[in-house]
Amino acid sequence: PIITVLLCTAAYLAGSVLFALPVSRLWKLPDPRAQGSGNPGATNVYRTGGWAPAAATLILDAAKGGLPVWLAHSAGLSVMVQAIVALFAVTGHMIPVFYRFKGGKGVATALGAGLALAPVTTLLMATIWLAAMWRWRISAVASLIAIVCGPLISAFIEPNTLPLFGLLALLIVVRHRNNLIRLAQGREAGL
Ligand code: G3P
Repeated sequence: PIITVLLCTAAYLAGSVLFALPVSRLWKLPDPRAQGSGNPGATNVYRTGGWAPAAATLILDAAKGGLPVWLAHSAGLSVMVQAIVALFAVTGHMIPVFYRFKGGKGVATALGAGLALAPVTTLLMATIWLAAMWRWRISAVASLIAIVCGPLISAFIEPNTLPLFGLLALLIVVRHRNNLIRLAQGREAGL
């Protein structure tokens, strides 16, 4: 139906707004795409500007994932449709129409979408992220471990969202390919 098409389009367009960039401008920080890992995400904004702009980036990127899913939920659309809306938001962040299709890794956007659709699974994943971060101090390692745990956790707790977490894991692992190469070479930067 038309509402599904509208929400998917809105989710993709919202996902395409890389909040790391306006936040960096607001804080008068350098473009994160030219610094650190070159990734327009909260982790790299932390490298250029510390906690406050990183938290703003994280919250805004998560909101653009969560809001469309919440709207789909409020409109009474099925979990499968909500999951598709979530994937459109994450895809927008990864291949954004506003930035020549060069986007980020989708972790914060997936966090927001996940919280809206499968809060228990997502909170457990966030806990795993924090634990892995505490142990290894490398954001990519924490993100990779948490996202790979997603399908396993959802299978037990919110099984109707398993396909979403499976696809998110696949997409997000692929987007971390450079991090994986650097990790294998032992030269991935901390945090
Ligand atoms: O969410 C992205 C994070 O997992 C890695 O970011 O900047 O270290 O490549 P970065």
